[in-house]
Amino acid sequence: MQGKRILLIVAGGIAAYKTPELVRLIRKAGASVTTVLTSGGAQFVTPLTLSALSNAPCHSELFDLTREAEMGHIELSRSADLIVVAPATADLMAKMAHGLADDLASTLLMATDTPVLIAPAMNVRMWDHPATRRNRAILADDDIDMVGPDEGGMACGEWGEGRMAEPEAIMQAMGELLGPPAPALTDASAPLRLPPESVIIPPAPRRLAGRHVIVTSGPTHEPIDPVRYIANRSSGTQGTAIAAALRDMGARVTFVTGPATSPPPSGVDVVRVETARQMHEAVQAALPADAAVMAAAVADWHVTNAADRKVKKDGSGAPSLQMAENPDILAWISRAAQRPRLVVGFAAETDDVVANATAKRSRKGCDWILANDVSPETGIMGGDENAITMVTESGAEAWPRMTKVKVARRLADRIADALQDGAR
Ligand SMILES: Cc1cc2nc3c(=O)[nH]c(=O)nc-3n(C[C@H](O)[C@H](O)[C@H](O)COP(=O)(O)O)c2cc1C
Repeated sequence: MQGKRILLIVAGGIAAYKTPELVRLIRKAGASVTTVLTSGGAQFVTPLTLSALSNAPCHSELFDLTREAEMGHIELSRSADLIVVAPATADLMAKMAHGLADDLASTLLMATDTPVLIAPAMNVRMWDHPATRRNRAILADDDIDMVGPDEGGMACGEWGEGRMAEPEAIMQAMGELLGPPAPALTDASAPLRLPPESVIIPPAPRRLAGRHVIVTSGPTHEPIDPVRYIANRSSGTQGTAIAAALRDMGARVTFVTGPATSPPPSGVDVVRVETARQMHEAVQAALPADAAVMAAAVADWHVTNAADRKVKKDGSGAPSLQMAENPDILAWISRAAQRPRLVVGFAAETDDVVANATAKRSRKGCDWILANDVSPETGIMGGDENAITMVTESGAEAWPRMTKVKVARRLADRIADALQDGAR
């Protein structure tokens, strides 16, 4: 982090008591830090503490003529290599997700083109609230990186997920985002680095412009009667992130989604389905395509004797369900007459991940399998992170555990490479 410039936004959570320590660690690592305090943040930590520890003025007012003359809010938002929000309150996350800009912190976050890392901290109920869940999905879709929160005891006496990540963990996440140190300017082979003030960040390369990719996502629901169904725990988070990453690289994306909890990304053609058989039909209708990513957790079976009316509990015992296998969409598309050049499947496994995924790849006839261990203790199913093993013709490749957004970006890159090379 030597020489890097950090803009640290401190919002109004009790965990703000940890940010002076974060400021100290950032400076110890050789980076400079400018602090911004929300009015809520100022209830927990003083501007004096932050400016003394950072050795720089602490900013808090948007409409401050002196400050605007010295360093305007736009300039402040662009003058960092990384913006860190710690603690990120439910309130500030909501503002970020919905584009509100009614104070200095939220305006900076709207005006910036710098990567943003948030360290959320809040009561477990606030963290689990559907509104916060929706906002988290939007922020992930907007490429906002997140560290924590951790699980544990809270200042309010409750226990659960919502504690701000420790300053050391935030430092580690910052180090990962900032990457290796810049090459020295004296190295003739190194690319010329302009001072950050004049850097114009290019848009993400649109390497998939003109390509059509089908992405399936989410669970399927297989009706038992009009009100009951068989489902699984898939949230659709990974499929949604993949569709967004492909869209960002310029692809036209047909996004066939089961009833997922994660909202579909904008800018893609959304086809909503309920059952595996409907998903199969929607995928057929979406062909031809250059690539297909089958990330949905499709139910293996459907109920053949599903009732038209609600089955009543009348004391005569549980109804007996007859089941039949659903169409295997991955195997079907891998052998279809209009087979996309690249077919990618997902394998949710709980045991022998690599062996099972390798066997699945040859059984289905697809090009790549992205296998993940969905044992309950991994927290992957329905969570925000994934640990992928990618199985291709050339073998298995273990990816480090990372956010589903990062998995999506890495996969989109690999898809662009494969379509470019004509390789699989
Ligand atoms: C004692 C106290 C502790 C609080 N802790 C948190 C917290 O940890 N996380 C959070 O999201 N909100 C917390 N709040 C509520 C926020 O301070 C409140 O939503 C405020 O409007 C946030 O403003 P800001 O996001 O602009 O800083 C707390 C409030 C009080 C009174």
